[in-house]
Amino acid sequence: MKDDNQNMAFANEMSGYSKIISDIVKDGQNFGRMNDPTSSAAIKGPCGDEMEFYLVIKNKIIEEIKFYTKGCIATRVCGIITVQLALGKSIDEALGISPKKVMDNLTDLPEEHRHCSILAVSTLHRAIADYLLKD
Ligand code: FES
Repeated sequence: MKDDNQNMAFANEMSGYSKIISDIVKDGQNFGRMNDPTSSAAIKGPCGDEMEFYLVIKNKIIEEIKFYTKGCIATRVCGIITVQLALGKSIDEALGISPKKVMDNLTDLPEEHRHCSILAVSTLHRAIADYLLKD
């Protein structure tokens, strides 16, 4: 019953977004937590949404990423795009990813949710900083 309620809430929230964004979110790839990452970070945004990033880095290349959030669909889709931009990249390249670059890949994200891209990219960058501080 709880799953039915969650699915209905999810479907209602998705109804305000385009099919492209819905398809990205439903894919679910790279969504979740990781048990033994090389580095990780968690940030709570000013709106209260939280984002977590988990990285596996080998030879300064980001080989695996998982992210997790209980935030809204916009937060989740920004996490997914951030992962797509960073996966397989060097840490220097990943540090060059900006919120604008995430937004460039999401032309129909509602204006009031543009800050979600800042939360996603900031969390990625902090996870990379966690790696650099351990190195
Ligand atoms: Fe605040 Fe998405 S609504 S980060």
